Amino acid sequence: MARHTMQVIRVYQYGGPEQLRLEQILRPEPQAGEVLIRVHAAGVLPADWKMRQGVFKKFYPVSFPYIPGSAIAGVIEAAGPGVTRFQKGQAVFGRSTHGAYTDYTTTAVEPPALTPKTFSLLALKPKSLSFVEAATISGGATTAWAALFSDGALSAGQRVLIHGAAGGVGLFAVQFARWKGAEVIGTASAPNVDFVRSVGADTVIDYTTTPFEEVISDVDLVLDTIGGETLQRSTAVIKHGGTLVSLLEKPSLQLAQACGIRAVKNVVTPTNKDLQQISQLIDEGQVKAVVGQTFPLSQARQAHELSQTGHGRGRIVLQITDKAVV
Ligand SMILES: NC(=O)c1ccc[n+]([C@@H]2O[C@H](COP(=O)([O-])OP(=O)(O)OC[C@H]3O[C@@H](n4cnc5c(N)ncnc54)[C@H](OP(=O)(O)O)[C@@H]3O)[C@@H](O)[C@H]2O)c1
Repeated sequence: MARHTMQVIRVYQYGGPEQLRLEQILRPEPQAGEVLIRVHAAGVLPADWKMRQGVFKKFYPVSFPYIPGSAIAGVIEAAGPGVTRFQKGQAVFGRSTHGAYTDYTTTAVEPPALTPKTFSLLALKPKSLSFVEAATISGGATTAWAALFSDGALSAGQRVLIHGAAGGVGLFAVQFARWKGAEVIGTASAPNVDFVRSVGADTVIDYTTTPFEEVISDVDLVLDTIGGETLQRSTAVIKHGGTLVSLLEKPSLQLAQACGIRAVKNVVTPTNKDLQQISQLIDEGQVKAVVGQTFPLSQARQAHELSQTGHGRGRIVLQITDKAVV
């Protein structure tokens, strides 16, 4: 029987956005423990262009050609041998193990494909979200959830400072911290200040005009999604015994000790249970997904160029089919 083809973006070598090539290839078949998903939308994460540039090649080498991306939302097209968790026709979202910038992808959901080393997450899509919105969750909401509540141990009544509060991670972090009952302070540039406040931040500092350490002190937790000097300067605003969680470089332990704080690079991997809890909060209307700009699959290059600016509001998403906005 003739196998179906699909459109896909593939990368053949590390380099700039021009390495993203649109191709027609054979559709994969789900192996034992995998599902085949018709992808309707794919999130464009900063990790995707960093991977393309070779930033992670020392500790996470790829085999070329590879399909970029991991955050997906779509519909189960077929279940491989032995799969009982999912069935054809279910709308799902999460993290694919075999790329996201494609019409179809396979991902591990049960052994033998799912091993302790396979970082795959898949859950039923929240009914209240379109596929485009659901594609913002993996690598955004999941990261924010694990960093705040597992790495950062945030609890009700604490004060948290979230850097990059308008970003794909930050907007979820603001909403989760608010839901938890924390006092939320965010940093963003002027065009995003009111928006970040509208999703639940008590205070938003325009980082382009006001150094945050001049107006904020004694926070219990800083979630830093920016790194560099923002990370360095953050230690000064954390109260004794407080915590700094960095999503980027490892914070200086000497500096942390000198300030009497705990400083960590986020390490906790989100779980399917986290994904389900996030889904529930979304369906209850407590948290909303924020989509930034959308692009068709053929414009993955433009999507990467925009993501690389490091500015914007919400998650950039590839809208792969017309059903993506339903
Ligand atoms: N280690 C992990 O597990 C992990 C997971 C996810 C993400 N990350 C990393 O975390 C970073 C953020 O990810 P993301 O998905 O949220 O990125 P994003 O969607 O591109 O958002 C970046 C945000 O940062 C804001 N920003 C830029 N410079 C700023 C500054 N100096 N102070 C405060 N805000 C600033 C921008 O807002 P304005 O437009 O207002 O400037 C923008 O909204 C990326 O580097 C990503 O690779 C790490």
